Amino acid sequence: MDNSEFLSRQTHLLHKMQPNSICLLPASGLVTRSRDTEFPFRQDSYFHYLCGFPEPDAWLVLSNHQEYSKGMSVLFCLDKDPTMEIWHGRRVGPKQAKQQYPVNMAFAEDELGERLLDLIDGHQNLYFAQGHNPNADELVFSLLQALRDAPKQSRQAPASLIDSRIILDEMRLFKSTTEIELMRKAAAIATQAHMRAMRFVAADKNEYHLEAEIHHEFAMQGAKYPAYGTIVGAGDNACILHYTENNQVLKDGDLVLIDAGCEWQGYAADITRTFPVSGQFSEQQKQLYELVLRAQLAAFEQIKPNNTIKQASDVAVAVITQGLLDLDILKGDLTDNIKQQNYREFYMHGLSHWLGLDVHDVGNYKIDGQDRPLKPGMVLTVEPGIYIAPDAKVDNKWRGIGIRIEDNLLITTSGYENLTLAAPKTINDIEALMLTKSG
Ligand code: GLY
Ligand code: MN
Ligand code: MN
Repeated sequence: MDNSEFLSRQTHLLHKMQPNSICLLPASGLVTRSRDTEFPFRQDSYFHYLCGFPEPDAWLVLSNHQEYSKGMSVLFCLDKDPTMEIWHGRRVGPKQAKQQYPVNMAFAEDELGERLLDLIDGHQNLYFAQGHNPNADELVFSLLQALRDAPKQSRQAPASLIDSRIILDEMRLFKSTTEIELMRKAAAIATQAHMRAMRFVAADKNEYHLEAEIHHEFAMQGAKYPAYGTIVGAGDNACILHYTENNQVLKDGDLVLIDAGCEWQGYAADITRTFPVSGQFSEQQKQLYELVLRAQLAAFEQIKPNNTIKQASDVAVAVITQGLLDLDILKGDLTDNIKQQNYREFYMHGLSHWLGLDVHDVGNYKIDGQDRPLKPGMVLTVEPGIYIAPDAKVDNKWRGIGIRIEDNLLITTSGYENLTLAAPKTINDIEALMLTKSG
């Protein structure tokens, strides 16, 4: 992403803020994994969105105070330190940062407390995402208190604290051309990873082998990390929505559900495919699989500008409920079953969520209490499923089958583009791909 896009985001935010406002955005910090080792570093999505600076323990400060005609941006980052860099890796340092990143000024992070006090002083409003980062909250509130406690007339604390997410979430919801390119790439890599797992699967392998195949494909294409914990659930495990143990042996006759997506330059893919360990769906599996696929395709027809997620979701619910009645898994009348939400025993999650820098991306789903209309540039998942628990009070032949099909859709001016279309999902396409086994 080049600096011009970061700069135009900053400008947009500065225009949306009230006059004489300052916005404070902390980077992520390192998080301890065990004793003196840390989890892999992942930059804060808001911070990344506005400046792309890749290190921990940094801050971005943006101001539209009247004294700056075009606004002002300041970065605080870890200072150069030869010893620390030998042990822990290179640092950009403030001098290079000012040249390479979209900021007017850059200072060492150890000057943060002092300089931030001066920077905030005199602004009318402070934009900050309270509760997002507890360490940042502590610093910001202590600075505000210091300004309020300063001798009268020497300092002026902002009169109001405004949630920066109200502006930023709305900006992040609409993806630019560059962001869409990155999301296409994330989707393409994740698609190839799912195809790799389909070709590799075989009875007596373990769920963790499939997880390893998926992560191998991500890593080999330069997507070092999954965007969320990879789910590989075979047999009954497919009925546990957030199953991540991924350590059971695969059995002939079982389906395996894989929900996995990589992160590419910060942007997530989120794909689910469900396929038979043996390479061939059983009759029962086929019937339920076709039903989930019909629900997904019916939902797709509702995905277009000015329709709502609720419309798509209602259609998916109607298809699933009718299908479960036809298979005698639900009993009674369609309207009553929908009204009483009886399908929720077998389809207990939502149809869709926004997708972007975060897998469950930011952005309101309602505006003034009403479901918001879809608009071009939004990216969302469509992910119906059916999960028949091993102890469900239904005919034994259905028990322990879990199926979800999840794709990533970009809203266009005329409808949608399915970013994950290339990941096989019809029974014919899956069975055909699985004939080309690698494992
Ligand atoms: N992978 C998380 C989800 O599908 O929402
Ligand atoms: Mn999802
Ligand atoms: Mn998913």
